[in-house]
Amino acid sequence: MCGIVGYTGTLQVKDILLRGLKRMEYRGYDSAGIAVQTAAGINVKHKVGKVAALANMVDSMDIVGTCGIGHTRWATHGKPSERNAHPHTACANDIAVVHNGIIENFASLREELEGRGHVFSSETDTEVVAHLIEEAYEGDLFGAVRAACNRLAGAYAIAAICEAEPGVIVCARKDSPIVVGQGKTGALVASDIVALIDETRDVVVLEDDTFAKLSCDSATGETSIEYVDMEGNAIQPEITHVDWDIDAAEKGGYPDFMLKEIYEEPRTIRDTLAGRMVNGHLQFDELALNYDELAAIDRVYIIACGTSYHAGLIAKNLIEAWSRIPCEVEVASEFRYRNPIVTPSTLVVAVSQSGETADTLAAVRDARIKGAKVFGITNVVGSPLARESDGVIYIKANKEIAVAATKSFLGQVAALTLLAMLLGQLRGGLTTAQIRMLFRELADTAQQIEQILADTDTIEAAALACKDAQNALFIGRGIGSTICYEGALKLKEISYLHAEAYAAGEMKHGPIALIDPGFPVIVVATKSPTYDKVISNIQECKARGALVVAIATEGDEEIKKHADYVIYIPKVRDCFSAITASVPLQLFARSIALARGCDVDQPRNLAKSVTVE
Ligand code: F6R
Repeated sequence: MCGIVGYTGTLQVKDILLRGLKRMEYRGYDSAGIAVQTAAGINVKHKVGKVAALANMVDSMDIVGTCGIGHTRWATHGKPSERNAHPHTACANDIAVVHNGIIENFASLREELEGRGHVFSSETDTEVVAHLIEEAYEGDLFGAVRAACNRLAGAYAIAAICEAEPGVIVCARKDSPIVVGQGKTGALVASDIVALIDETRDVVVLEDDTFAKLSCDSATGETSIEYVDMEGNAIQPEITHVDWDIDAAEKGGYPDFMLKEIYEEPRTIRDTLAGRMVNGHLQFDELALNYDELAAIDRVYIIACGTSYHAGLIAKNLIEAWSRIPCEVEVASEFRYRNPIVTPSTLVVAVSQSGETADTLAAVRDARIKGAKVFGITNVVGSPLARESDGVIYIKANKEIAVAATKSFLGQVAALTLLAMLLGQLRGGLTTAQIRMLFRELADTAQQIEQILADTDTIEAAALACKDAQNALFIGRGIGSTICYEGALKLKEISYLHAEAYAAGEMKHGPIALIDPGFPVIVVATKSPTYDKVISNIQECKARGALVVAIATEGDEEIKKHADYVIYIPKVRDCFSAITASVPLQLFARSIALARGCDVDQPRNLAKSVTVE
């Protein structure tokens, strides 16, 4: 949530900051700003709206300097406005700060600082950081940032500059990611690797309560980076090499990131499965639990938020079917505020694309205190979730930029399916031969998705027929109903059309009252043990005038009699229809959103990583 970037080196910084902000815009996009050290002092510029608005504003401005920081914001404290946009300053612009996260004690700190004569110009929690640095500053920004952070409660990633120390950026981290790298022309800091990748692939992901000082010697142009802990002791952090390609951060000829990422789904499935079946056996070297420990677990909790939670709903079906271990799926923000039955023989599987969702991380910490084993399923190497779990399964979706999760969802479902297979094998629910067959069929979904992507005309036509609706219902049974939750979420988050998902059998217990002529009902009606029941549900909706869009299995002619639009997908085993049927639902949501004039990559009010509770 929010994006931070900073650069000190030999090149003019303005464009470097704007480029970095543009790359991170998916993390928040209600306002943006930069602060540049110039000969005349720190020059700060803010603009409400997207980075492009800021870029337009500063384009013709002469902002000359080779050291600066920038920020793109997702509002938490204080509405989106110019005065609340970062960077925030103190001491008549002598100090400028950008911050991600939430300072929980900001109200008391602000009162205290105002009591000592500090004048605030924004409603944000961040501004207290600038004033605390100002108070602690005695000719050493590195020390002053540490002293300021000592007073903070909450989560922060911070980058600060001051007029008195040209070429210096100091950054700090507590529970909010920040990465630092030594580039070809200077040193960089950002809240996301994607903003550094043009300059370097070897980065340091700062640990909690550590600090970095990036300096550029104005005489020689040489840059250096020092790292210290909270006490000021020098530390040598580990360097992480980033191997994903730059294309991941570019649209590569597609009109939007969402479409590009949907077309990357076959590759995501292949990459997530690569190396997982060796000599006919499932391979999970990184789980850090031996198979005896794993076989002894008596309960599984899957905790996650949003789309990742929906991947968990699908996995519950597979885990219970194959291993007979009871499996609960819970929204992380609820899990941590009740008293779930978690014991040392509980396995908690935390699913998070970003690996930095605050609610999921908090739930993981609670579960570990209670003695549970925790597995993380994430897309981001070195993310907080990866570091705080007993074992990690990485999905190999590569960078996902569009705010709406698509390829990462499929990667999560694939990874969770593998985990369900492993548990099934350990508990004797699946034979080795069955595992091999399931694995093969799971791998085949990559090619089946390609087949779906090769012909999207009916999806497009169905979307156009539904685009002017106010509401839509998604119904299905079994695995089909779980896919509907994700289909409805995709539609509402990018098209702003109200959508609800229901288990089809529940329709007659209330929701069917909503249906009037033309009401869109999207039905997952693939061949499954409950297919006939789903057909009856479609008929009930049709009888009340619904416009029915069915996702059906190739070769099913019967369904044409009941639905207005039939989107065919290849025949797969019921449990794998979760993967294949999700693809047309994602495309359907995107087409409706575009037809309604929405920005599919950056929907309003959202951000890619939700690092606040
Ligand atoms: C929806 C979406 C969100 C995320 C949720 C959790 O398309 O992307 O619902 O799934 O914010 O994010 P992660 O998976 O990063 O924990």
